[in-house]
Amino acid sequence: MAELRSSQWYAGDDRNAYIHRAWMRRGVPDSAFTGRPQIAIANTASDLTPCNAHLTEVAQSVKNGIYEAGGIPLELPVVSLGETQVRPTAMLWRNMAAMATEEMLRANPIDGVVLLGGCDKTIPSLLMAAASVDLPAVVVPGGPMLTGTFRGVPLGCGTDVWRLSEEVRAGTLSQEAFVKSESAMIRSRGHCNTMGTASTMALVAEALGTIVPGLAGTPAPDSRLLEAAHNTGRLAVELVAADRRPSSTLTKGSFHNAIVALAAIGGSTNAVVHLLAIAGRAGIELTLDDFDRIGSHVPLLVDLQPAGRFLMEDFHRAGGLLAVLREVRDLLDPDALTVTGRPLVDYLDDAPIWDPEVIRTRKEPLIAEAGIAVLRGSLAPNGALIKPAAASPHLLQHRGRALVFDSIEDFHHRIDDPDLDVDADSIMVLRGCGPKGYPGMPEVANMPLPRKLLEQGVRDMVRICDGRMSGTAYGTVVLHVAPEAAAGGPLALVRTGDIISLDVANRRLDLEVPADELAGRRVDDATAAGFADPKRGWERLYVDHVLQADTGADLDFLTGSSGSAVSRESH
Ligand code: FES
Repeated sequence: MAELRSSQWYAGDDRNAYIHRAWMRRGVPDSAFTGRPQIAIANTASDLTPCNAHLTEVAQSVKNGIYEAGGIPLELPVVSLGETQVRPTAMLWRNMAAMATEEMLRANPIDGVVLLGGCDKTIPSLLMAAASVDLPAVVVPGGPMLTGTFRGVPLGCGTDVWRLSEEVRAGTLSQEAFVKSESAMIRSRGHCNTMGTASTMALVAEALGTIVPGLAGTPAPDSRLLEAAHNTGRLAVELVAADRRPSSTLTKGSFHNAIVALAAIGGSTNAVVHLLAIAGRAGIELTLDDFDRIGSHVPLLVDLQPAGRFLMEDFHRAGGLLAVLREVRDLLDPDALTVTGRPLVDYLDDAPIWDPEVIRTRKEPLIAEAGIAVLRGSLAPNGALIKPAAASPHLLQHRGRALVFDSIEDFHHRIDDPDLDVDADSIMVLRGCGPKGYPGMPEVANMPLPRKLLEQGVRDMVRICDGRMSGTAYGTVVLHVAPEAAAGGPLALVRTGDIISLDVANRRLDLEVPADELAGRRVDDATAAGFADPKRGWERLYVDHVLQADTGADLDFLTGSSGSAVSRESH
């Protein structure tokens, strides 16, 4: 094995080595500082990130594996983001979490790292950090929670919150019953159990090669998670010995496989912005169009909420990601390696489907061509997304009158007004919700429908936004519009009553306003007032430097990699 990076801290007899060793001794033997890999466990466990709170127990299993393989485990608490708790939106802090983790891995005497994540932003931020510091790294995903039931019916957490709250607004469910369902929804430890962003990112990270194949999707309370965590600890020590780094496994081919997986599982649109950001850190040229080119002809094979019927516990029981990937093996890059050093496709020989209702065969897909469609046109010059599998088929080609909201506050203020000039053919537009405008690109694109239309039985409308949509949500929603309104995008110029046309088959999103008329329009004061203008701190830094959704919404000075070398030695 080549000389360990940590020996730059611990080897020798000078004063610096003395200080580095002495403060770390506290009962550990001399052998801890002589040639044993120092493996950090970047742990996003936090009581305020309930989806990840159990990772402390998972970390113990990882530690056992590291010790067993001859390494030294070092737990490193890192910034954690609880999707439901953090305001104004966890996405505002993803880049901060990635930056802090990257810097702490680089600054400390670390040879490799095990990354423990779960809730939506945690695996993306950890992978962004790992790609930029480029130390040997492997992810252990915390896993989804078990299925909860209410009145004998399974509850998909997240998805059913939207459904039940719309039922209350439509008058078909009592407020009392709604509140009662609350304690039934979160049945166990773990992250959301729909094919939301957390489940998606764990599965996509496995397809990317950063997780031991077969592990992602294992429910959080399942003892096999701890066994896999133990073995992943052992693997981390091997990664250091083999000098296997993210730069050797994150390739164009591995991102190709991640996109195929994303389409086949019907994963969250949030994965697009996260994969673009991770690729940006790894120096891989990945574009929005790659998602359409690679993913849009992939069949949808997984029948999970939010668009489908089942939940992650069912998915795991039915065979998990490897069973899905075996069905689309011919679409995968056979050379893309995983963190084990073997190609992903090597793991597909023995990966049967145990329940074809949950995971469909290639011959009987839910949708023959799924994936995420990338739209362009006069309303989205740099692109926008729609997930056709979560949309209403009759709205995928649609023209309608715009009903414009300048901010989420404006939307909440007016949406239930009985005099709102809206019908089922209207297209609701919400702006000021992009990376800069909000700031942080919140998950508000799936706007609740106007009460008066709900009462008429309308359950879906075309909605357009420069923000994101929760991975647990559904509907005919065009999102991630780039450039966003606050960055000079034409979305800022739309007026209520303008005609917008959506044509998903031809990948078009157009504002039917003559170009010369549009050129003469200026952003209204009321619209501009909806754009964020923070005065200091992270929010100011973020607004000044965040990139648009079509390139991953990273900060401009954080893209790329700096490697693991520290800028100066300590003195
Ligand atoms: Fe944590 Fe859904 S709130 S994964």
